[in-house]
Amino acid sequence: MNTMTEQQRREFARIAAPYLANDQVRSMSGFVQHGSISTLDHVVRVARASYTWACVLGITFNAEDLVAGALLHDFYLYDWHDRSTSKPNHATKHPLYAEENARRVFGVNEHVASIIATHMWPLPPDRVPRSREAWIVTAADKWCSLQETLLMRHTHGGTNRPRPAVERR
Ligand SMILES: [Fe+2]
Ligand SMILES: [Fe+2]
Repeated sequence: MNTMTEQQRREFARIAAPYLANDQVRSMSGFVQHGSISTLDHVVRVARASYTWACVLGITFNAEDLVAGALLHDFYLYDWHDRSTSKPNHATKHPLYAEENARRVFGVNEHVASIIATHMWPLPPDRVPRSREAWIVTAADKWCSLQETLLMRHTHGGTNRPRPAVERR
């Protein structure tokens, strides 16, 4: 999966850096996404996969928007396993919660907002990805989620706490 060239690795790191330095993005390290994977680990995995796939496909794409959309696609800022803090209709509505937070915190552009809002397609069927970047993030999210659910399930003393997040300070 991680087959970036040195130049691609540098570009990815440059684009991702301001998002990964943000305290609200970093707070996602405290939320469980799938199995033992935190939401922060998940979005970084999806962003790396999306960027790598776009490079391997050899297509023209907007790297800034693709990486931003992937890193913020689950920026809903709660643990969806915790009913006391999670918001209603998580499965279908969390892309909209994430979009709202991304607009508020980063003032993202319409393309990035659209990548975030449509990433759960076909949930709902009428919120369809509208760009190649959005389709790639939608596919990478499903691939990474499947891997995390099936292959990365570890327990820690009988609980399912997230493992340490990537690049935690
Ligand atoms: Fe999601
Ligand atoms: Fe996701």
